[in-house]
Formats: sequence, C-alpha cells, structure tokens
Amino acid sequence: MDGGQLISAAHEDNLDPRSRRMNQRDHFVEALYQKLLEIEQRLIPTGLHVLGRAPAVNNFVDILCAVASFDRPELGIQSLHSLVATGLGLADDPSVYKQGSSSQQQVEALVKAGIKRFLAMPADDSAVDSAVEFFRREAAVPTEQSARLFRLLQRIRVQLAANHELDALAAALRGEYIEPGPGADIVQNPEILPTGRNTHAVNPYNIPSLWAFQKSEAVVTALLDRFRREQGRFPQTIAMVLWGMDNIKSQGEGVAQALWLLGVRPRRDAMNRVVDVDVIPLSQLGRPRIDVVMTVSGIFRDLFASTMNLLDKAVRTVVALDEPLEMNFPKQHVVAQVQQGDSYEDSMIRVFSNAAGSYGTNVDFMVLESQWESARELGDLFVTRKSFAYGHGLEGRPARELMDRALARVELTYQNIDSYEVGLTDVDHYFEYLGGVTQAVEQRSGTRPRVLLCDGLTTQPKIRSLEETLKLETRTKTLNPKWYEGMLQHGYSGVAQIERHVSNTFGWSATARAVEDWVYDEISSTFLQDQTMLNRLRQLNPHSTHNLVGRLLEAHGRGLWQTAPQVIEELRHIYRQIEDELEGVSSRYWTVESTH
Ligand code: BEZ
Ligand code: MG
Repeated sequence: MDGGQLISAAHEDNLDPRSRRMNQRDHFVEALYQKLLEIEQRLIPTGLHVLGRAPAVNNFVDILCAVASFDRPELGIQSLHSLVATGLGLADDPSVYKQGSSSQQQVEALVKAGIKRFLAMPADDSAVDSAVEFFRREAAVPTEQSARLFRLLQRIRVQLAANHELDALAAALRGEYIEPGPGADIVQNPEILPTGRNTHAVNPYNIPSLWAFQKSEAVVTALLDRFRREQGRFPQTIAMVLWGMDNIKSQGEGVAQALWLLGVRPRRDAMNRVVDVDVIPLSQLGRPRIDVVMTVSGIFRDLFASTMNLLDKAVRTVVALDEPLEMNFPKQHVVAQVQQGDSYEDSMIRVFSNAAGSYGTNVDFMVLESQWESARELGDLFVTRKSFAYGHGLEGRPARELMDRALARVELTYQNIDSYEVGLTDVDHYFEYLGGVTQAVEQRSGTRPRVLLCDGLTTQPKIRSLEETLKLETRTKTLNPKWYEGMLQHGYSGVAQIERHVSNTFGWSATARAVEDWVYDEISSTFLQDQTMLNRLRQLNPHSTHNLVGRLLEAHGRGLWQTAPQVIEELRHIYRQIEDELEGVSSRYWTVESTH
C-alpha cells in the first residue's frame, strides 16, 4: 500500500463530531492512525488448515489473545483486557481508554506479553500459576478471575496441539461412531475443540439465544445510525442475507437483528422454546419499525423452518399493529401494495429462499465461468433462484412478482459477518448472495442501494460499507505478504487460493461495482508484473496463474478496471506465454519482455 492509498483510506470513514473540532492536520493524522490500527489488529489466517496437522505454536498467541478478549458470562470469565484495564486504573475514563489510545495499546501489549510467557512454559499447572502471578504483579488482576481464564486457555492450548482428525476420518470411513461436537468459531465457542468430531448444529427453537438478542440491539442501532448519518433519515426497507451456518455459530445473531429492525422480541414458552414474538412499543423503540426483506440460504431453510415461521410471524404481527404509517414502514408498504391490487396476505411476504431441494443463487457460477453479458442477468438469476416464499402455510410457494416488488423498495442491503477466517473475498458465497441481492435491488428500484456489513466478531461490533470491508480484506489478505506467503507455503493450492481471492474480488465488481482500480493495479504489480513472483506462481501452479491473469484482463475488458494500456499489454503477453506453456508450445521458464 502506498501513501496515496493510505490517504484515501484515511478519508473514507466518517469522523465523529469530536474530531471536527481538531485542526485539519490532527484530524487527518488521527484518521490515518485509526485506519492503520484497524488493519494491524485484524486477525488473519496465515495459511490453510491441513487435515490432521495441529496449528503451529506461534499461531497460538493470536488465537489465545482473541479468546481472552471476550467476556464469557456462562463460565464466569471476564475479558482479560478489561481485567487488566481495570487493574491499571485505565478503564474508568472512557475518553482516555478507547480504541487506539495509548492506554489501550498498553493493555494489549501486556496481555500479549503475558500470553506469550504462558505459552513458553510447559502446558501444566505451573504455567497457569505463573500467568496468574504475572497479571497480579503487573496489573493487579484478581487471581481467582485470571485463574478461571487461564485454566480455559490451558485446555484450549492442549486441545489445539493434539489433533485426531485423521483417526476420526478413518473411523468415519469404517462406519464407526464419531463423537459429536458443536459447530462454531474457536473464539466464539472454544467448546469446538478438539476438532475432528462430528459437528452438530443448534436447537432451532433456541434461536435467537438470549445473548444473541441482547447483543443485536447495539448492532441494529449502529446500522441505522450509519445510514442516517449518510442519508439524513432511516432506511424504510432493508434486504438482509441470512445464512444457516452463521446463525448456528452466532446462535442466531442475524435473526435477532431482523427482529430488532421490526421492533419485536422473541417470546419463550415454558420449555424455553422461542415460539412467538412480543411487540416492543414504539415509545420504547424510539424509532420507526423498519421493513426487512429476508433472503435466506437453502441451508438456513433446511435447518431453521421454525425460525422462518417466526420471522414471517414477526412481520405479520407488526403489520397488524394500530400505529401511524410513518412509524411502521412494513405496514405502510403493505397498505400501498394492497392499494395496487395485491392481497393483504401476499403483501406481507418477506422471507424468500430457493425452491425446496435447491441451494445457492448460481450467480457465483455465472460470474466465475464468465457466462454473463450484463449485470442485469446476475440480478435476475438471483431472483429466479430465490423467489420462493416461506412462512406459515407458504412452504416455498413461487412468488417472483412479490419478490420483485419487495426488492424495488429496498434502500440498504446488509449481511452480518461473524467469522475471522472467512471473509468477503475468501469464498464466492458473499458476492453471490449480498452482491446478487444488491444487483437485483438496483435494477428493480432504479438506484444502487447502500451496502453495509456488520463485523460481528469483535468486542465492539463495527458497521462498515461494502467498499470499506473490501479494502480491509484486500489490505489484510490478498495484498498482505504475511497472508500470501502463508498461502504459498502450500504450493499448488496456495496459488489457487490467491487466484480465488482475486476472482472473488472480481465477483464484487461484477455484482456491485464495489472495487476500486488501485486494487487490481496492486494485484497486477504484486503477483504478475514482479518477475520473481510471477515465476514462483507459474512454477507452482500455472493453471491458476493463467486464470489470475485472465481474470484481470476480464475485469479490464468489461470496463470494471481502468489502467494504463501498457499494463494490459504486459498482462496479455504474460497470458499468451502461460497459455503456450500449458499447451506445451514454449519452454517452462521465460522472462517477461518489457513492453514499455
Ligand atoms: C449457509 O450456511 O447458509 C451457507 C453456507 C455456504 C454458502 C452459502 C450459505
Ligand atoms: Mg453456491
């Protein structure tokens, strides 16, 4: 990343009112600093998981620091960061102890140093005792508090180092019993360890969990605040992507956010099952009820039938309320739709997914196979695949026109992201869903909606625009030497991963035009216009390297990347050379002739 990009990065975020009072230079330096911290503190995967192989011990530090940073009320454990901040007397003044402040960095550094020392000792009780003593001495952390945490970290460390995945795989292939284990992220739920177990999901009647619902209020407030800061009003309709695995891992945070937007809370029966919703009065909500169009994955549909009914019921409950239309957008829209001739029942349909037995949008396949002429086709394909209505008595009824009308009202598309490991450019599913729905909305409403995401797996969930999230992903993964060198250690599949990230980045150009030129410029100069790197890539995996060059040329050819003509000439030259090489026409080792 060069200075120019950093400067533009620093200008991107809206700044709080406090910083407006600072002079411009301070203001700029502060924004730049926050941006750098955000990139620096991002937890990134530094290589692929190899089945049967435990992660390297030097990766444990970051994992354990992340685990230690969260409160775990179910285990009576408080975040080590907040214990240290309190012990050092830093936590009392929020204006002093904030993201990026020197006191926060002091806490981070001490936590990291303590965890490094802990990991340097043999994994027995003496390591726990020593860590407890360290934090008592350095930061006056009460020993009973830190002991609980370090006993958990000890268990994680031992379980991370022992790996039974291959034995379990072999046992599964012999048809033997495999012990079950929960499916989640290690930071969210360390109970996923040891790995190599038979992953089970959740009880759908417990969704959303109390914790997920509690946590989601602040996320929804931040989401609406961000939109209001930019547009000066509340969004009337949000299209939300809901996935099955994410709602398993987060115990239903996405579902909880949809309920908060509508202004209802889950009601539990005597057996603690979520069976209905209770309305939050407008006087308590303090804002209008937001209309939510939910596009749910096939996996969500299969796992969460009762939850789809709950979401459908939430919409119907809200529409039936006797409230002013300007405070109840779902009702306002149903009234308008009935006036235009739809039935009352149909006008309330908001939960859409694939037809029974079908999965995915296929937008990813169409993009990755270059089988599209205009972006309109991608949005239409999304709706073709997803326009089946769910909820009580609907059972996947075809509802294309109703979905068209619902999407035509959308002003904001949104997805909750809940994983450190899998982000917007790691897999093609984010662009097929969030990109797909964004494209579908743009065609039907005539305007590109705002696209926002919640980075949910931090102690303070953060709302970012699609563009901001993509830049962060690009800087911390695709263009980060720590990331790509980690990938290249895996040889052939490492190059395939790099190519996949570039193609998924391209997926965001295709569906949402969300990628700036510099991203492709940097990808090109890092991986292809650098002779040494190019040679490494094509020796390890010429097919993926060829695809990578082809993808950049496609981005340019479709008008999604503007760059200097010499760059394109050079890429075409490289493309032809790798093609010849793959076809056995030219020798395996060559150099790029400079074309300028
Ligand atoms: C899901 O968990 O719903 C999901 C998984 C992979 C791709 C898309 C959705
Ligand atoms: Mg798919």
